[in-house]
Amino acid sequence: MLGGGGFRVPLVYQALLSDRGEGRITSVTLYDTDRTRLDAITAVLKQQADRTDDSSSAPVVTATTDLDEALRGTDFVFSAIRVGGLEGRTVDERVALDLGVLGQETVGAGGIAYGLRTLPVATAVARRVAAVAPEAWVINFTNPAGMVTEAMLPYLGDRVIGICDSPSGLGRRAALALGLDASQTFYDYAGLNHLGWLRGLQSGGVDHLPKLLADSESLGDFEEGRLFGASWLRSLGAIPNEYLHYYYFARETLAAVQSVEKTRGKFLLDQQSDFYAETTRRPGDALELWQKTRAERESTYMVESREVADAGERDERDMSAGGYEQVALSLMRAIAHNERASLILNVRNRGTLRHLDDDAVVEVPCTVDANGARPLTVSQLTDHQAGLVSAVKAVERSTIEAAATGSRSTALRAFAWHPLIDSVNTATKLLDGYAERLPDLAAYRSRIG
Ligand code: G6P
Ligand code: MN
Repeated sequence: MLGGGGFRVPLVYQALLSDRGEGRITSVTLYDTDRTRLDAITAVLKQQADRTDDSSSAPVVTATTDLDEALRGTDFVFSAIRVGGLEGRTVDERVALDLGVLGQETVGAGGIAYGLRTLPVATAVARRVAAVAPEAWVINFTNPAGMVTEAMLPYLGDRVIGICDSPSGLGRRAALALGLDASQTFYDYAGLNHLGWLRGLQSGGVDHLPKLLADSESLGDFEEGRLFGASWLRSLGAIPNEYLHYYYFARETLAAVQSVEKTRGKFLLDQQSDFYAETTRRPGDALELWQKTRAERESTYMVESREVADAGERDERDMSAGGYEQVALSLMRAIAHNERASLILNVRNRGTLRHLDDDAVVEVPCTVDANGARPLTVSQLTDHQAGLVSAVKAVERSTIEAAATGSRSTALRAFAWHPLIDSVNTATKLLDGYAERLPDLAAYRSRIG
């Protein structure tokens, strides 16, 4: 697990612990550049294992700050790194907000800045994997996940697969709102990571989405229904990923994010600095400290967006049935055991969506087995969806090119082309603002070699 000292690592380890199936994961190596974080998370994992009934069969955990050592002999690489840490995330947000545009981890200017910082490291990692563990599958959680997966592909081919929990979460919530069995439902979902739509909900040979769209009460029963509101969802004829709230309600979400004292990144930075410091002082309480921190973190997720929509609290069902760790585990089992599964993943388009070329990474339902993930047939994007997806794909590709070449004019294009950045002058200021506030990118890359 790259980024093995990260706060969400225990979620993945918990999923591995609960996996009692044959051929479960036997050993986990945590890799991180920061020893203190590795020690804290190792302490949490140890306590998780101790508390299971059969702790002797828990996956063995080791930790290292040497990338090649971590990669050698592994079957699966989980990549969940955060280049520049949460300090970097707060800069991504702040520079944009101060210039009057959205500052968010993966959407708009913040996502481009985060991409520029992350891609050189992600591609360096991809090269090391190709050299040291060429047989390994890479499961990429690193955000911006679609862009990062596309940048790693030239080095790893289809052995890199990007994941996100939001599409399956949306599908499951929509299915549950109608009382459908989520495991027997096909989600006609398509787009890019954090920029997709649910256009059909097929079960028993029937598409249930029209029924859901017509039913205001059921729409009020789940997160995305409340966020977007029944009348807009009916007009759209689809249910967007929650991140599209930043596009469809751009003014309101921007104002809401600007009005709070702490951005999401700053909130998490403060919260996690406390967690790591406290865990270093009291390693015996690592698990309890982690659980307490995690509960607070969940309850504040996308809180500004919910306020804009007057959507109230997230309820239990919005978060049930596992997040990205379950997607990762299902993906890994399907590959390792050749057990066919259907999952929404970030993979090469290969002709699935005709508005995009074959090599564009898209987020679509896939069938997965020992040969990896292959996109399934979904309905085509509408003109509106295709327009937005193509615009953002062009931004992603400019960002990838700018990160690879260091070209300022390519980076300017990435900012200026983004639908949420409304002026080339602002794009220029964003570029200058980030260049000034973000530490030397070469320093990150040199840690990987
Ligand atoms: C969702 C998204 C992830 C993202 C996370 C953000 O799960 O799909 O891509 O990393 O939320 O959560 P955070 O708590 O870091 O704001
Ligand atoms: Mn995601």
